[in-house]
Amino acid sequence: MPEPTSLVDRATVELHHRVQIGLVRALEVQLGPGGDRAEAGLTLERLLEFTEMHFAAEETLMRLHGYPQAQAHAEAHRRLLGEALTIGQGHLAGDDASAAEAARRLRGWLREHILGMDGAFDAWCDRNGIAME
Ligand SMILES: [Fe+2]
Ligand SMILES: [Fe+2]
Repeated sequence: MPEPTSLVDRATVELHHRVQIGLVRALEVQLGPGGDRAEAGLTLERLLEFTEMHFAAEETLMRLHGYPQAQAHAEAHRRLLGEALTIGQGHLAGDDASAAEAARRLRGWLREHILGMDGAFDAWCDRNGIAME
C-alpha cells in the first residue's frame, strides 16, 4: 500500500502547472491573428480536461491531509474553470479576439493562483511536516 503522500508529489504538481500555463499560451497564439481555429478548439478541450484533472488532484491531496483552506481553494478552482469556459464561449461564438483576451486574463489568474493559494498549501505542508517528494 503506497504512502498517501505519494499520490501526487510536488514535482508532479509543478509539472502540471507548466503544462497548464503552456496550454493557455498555445491557445493565445492559436486564437490570435493567423491562428488555427480548429487547433484552438482542440487545445481548449485539452486545457479543460487537464485543468479538471489537476484541480481534482490538488483537492484530493488537500482533503487527504485535512488542509483547513481546502474548501476556499476548491471554490477558487471552480472560478478558474469558469473563466476557462468563458474562452470556449467566445471561441464558439466566433469571437476569437475576445476569447484570446480571456485566455490572457486566465493565464494571469492562474499564475496568481499558483504563486498564491497553491504556494500557501505548499507552505502549510512544510509547516506540518507533510513531505510530498
Ligand atoms: Fe495548481
Ligand atoms: Fe490550486
